Amino acid sequence: MTASFLKPVEDLRAQFLSDLEISETVESPSPLKGEGHELLRVKYLSRNGLVATLMKTLGSIPVESKPLFGKTLNELKSEITAKLDSFSTNTNASSACGFVGVFGDMTLPGRRQEAGSLHPLTQTQRQICEFFEKLGFSIKEGPEIEWDDLNFSALNIAADHPARDMHDTFYFDEKRLLRTHTSPVQIRVMQNGKAPFRVISPGKVYRCDSDITHSPMFHQVEGLCVDKNVNFGHLKSVLHSFARALFGLSVKLRFRPSYFPFTEPSAEVDISCILCNAKGCRVCKETGWLEILGAGMVHPNVLKNVGVDPEEYSGYAFGLGVERIAMLKYRIPDIRLFYENHLDFLSQFHGL
Ligand code: PHE
Repeated sequence: MTASFLKPVEDLRAQFLSDLEISETVESPSPLKGEGHELLRVKYLSRNGLVATLMKTLGSIPVESKPLFGKTLNELKSEITAKLDSFSTNTNASSACGFVGVFGDMTLPGRRQEAGSLHPLTQTQRQICEFFEKLGFSIKEGPEIEWDDLNFSALNIAADHPARDMHDTFYFDEKRLLRTHTSPVQIRVMQNGKAPFRVISPGKVYRCDSDITHSPMFHQVEGLCVDKNVNFGHLKSVLHSFARALFGLSVKLRFRPSYFPFTEPSAEVDISCILCNAKGCRVCKETGWLEILGAGMVHPNVLKNVGVDPEEYSGYAFGLGVERIAMLKYRIPDIRLFYENHLDFLSQFHGL
């Protein structure tokens, strides 16, 4: 039987063995988890460690027991040292420096991760927005699930107006729908603010339409400028600068009279075909022109609907499809390529 004065040494030994086991069990929830053997070395063997502390009790041990107490404690110290050292020498040199632990070898070189890049639609959308931000427009976003009132009525499209047919709408119920354009964002901005307004609203829109150039979900960027004395000349000049920034200085612009319920006059805007230099090709259907956006002067009814006096203020608005611009810019033949997430396709837009 162990003499009672040796009990503290035996207890310390049991405590050490238990700590050692815990520190070698990665899954252990103990606070020692992952802290490794170096912590145990400090805890037990340092100058103020548990072994040294117990050695200090030597003074209170009866004289005849001192030699055995000292000898047993020294043996424990050697045992602890050997156990902790055997861990170090069992692993490679880096472990002796404390770099190998439960998390693996920290000296291994990192694994290289291929750099990703922004989706071509994100790149195009940002490029468009950045151009208008430089002109003083601020970016405003809104919900994709929208009220029928804001998507249509406030924009001068009455419930029974045939213009609703231009938008093949996904309805949730009589009042709620997936927005068919980002124009309701501009209505929200005007309802909640005070003129003048200069906003650009990018985002996803939805129409029940699907073929190689149409997708039920696509991206739009729309712009609105409302101020005193804004006229059609401002609209033309801003859109011309925009087309040149996006497609190059030699691009020409053509405004064709058109109809939108929320603008009057309205226009479809074409650029000279950038694929054939306006000579005529399959993409421009031999016309030399490509339609890229819709635009016009904000209808006085729209201004009245949001509490802006059309006698005092006027404005222009425009809207374009981001997919269409990206397809022309990068000569992409099928809109579905944008949504299939194939790296072969997406990696071609790296660093553009
Ligand atoms: N909101 C129109 C659409 O999505 C685009 C547009 C915006 C046309 C502003 C004219 C003026 O079809």
